[in-house]
Amino acid sequence: MRENLCYTVKKEKYAMFVTFEGSEGVGKSTQLRLLKEYLLRTGQDAVYIREPGSTEISEKIRAIILDKSNSAMSYVTEAMLYAASRAQLVGEVIKPALKEGKLVICDRYIDSSVAYQGYGRGLGADVVKKINAYAIDGCMPDVTVFLDLPPKSNWRGERRADRIEEQPDDFFERVYKGYLDEIALSPSRFVCIKPDLDKLVTSENIIDALRQRGAIR
Ligand code: TYD
Repeated sequence: MRENLCYTVKKEKYAMFVTFEGSEGVGKSTQLRLLKEYLLRTGQDAVYIREPGSTEISEKIRAIILDKSNSAMSYVTEAMLYAASRAQLVGEVIKPALKEGKLVICDRYIDSSVAYQGYGRGLGADVVKKINAYAIDGCMPDVTVFLDLPPKSNWRGERRADRIEEQPDDFFERVYKGYLDEIALSPSRFVCIKPDLDKLVTSENIIDALRQRGAIR
């Protein structure tokens, strides 16, 4: 089942590539932390990464992308910078880890680009997928956990917004719609979880779903 998803990587039997997606403020970071705690408790190793970033070069690209003073950045430049950060991460970390049979867990990946740049910025899903095809070189996730909450207008809180977070609410409405459209196109890759008020319940739901998919034990 897995071979065709990552066809340029000769993966070891147990290699699994799991990504997390969702709108801002849905509790993604908390859920990633709870999953990590579960995996540590149960003696399961994983490589934990986030996008954009997670290599020295990708972190430098991240700083350029999110820098609020780069207000003149074109949407195409933005999409290509996310893809450049991703290309470095795929080559330097994701593919080598999968090749060694490791579990890779990534906070955001190509679906974020499709949702944010394709739908949010309006570049279109096809353009963004084309830009990313070369960057990911066939390395698609085996499972993508989507934390399914529509954008709330109160997520911004006290945090100083970065260049993406300072976008108006309708941008995030389009992003959310983008996710739903992409999920409808490849439903088998996605695990959609509606966050519960109790974050531990949400975590259990995620863990159960990933166990059922054979991504974790
Ligand atoms: P981050 O602080 O990591 O946000 P979050 O905690 O929500 O993941 O900043 C990453 C921002 O970049 C976030 O607003 C989503 C956005 N993004 C894109 O627009 N396109 C992408 O391809 C990726 C990976 C992220």
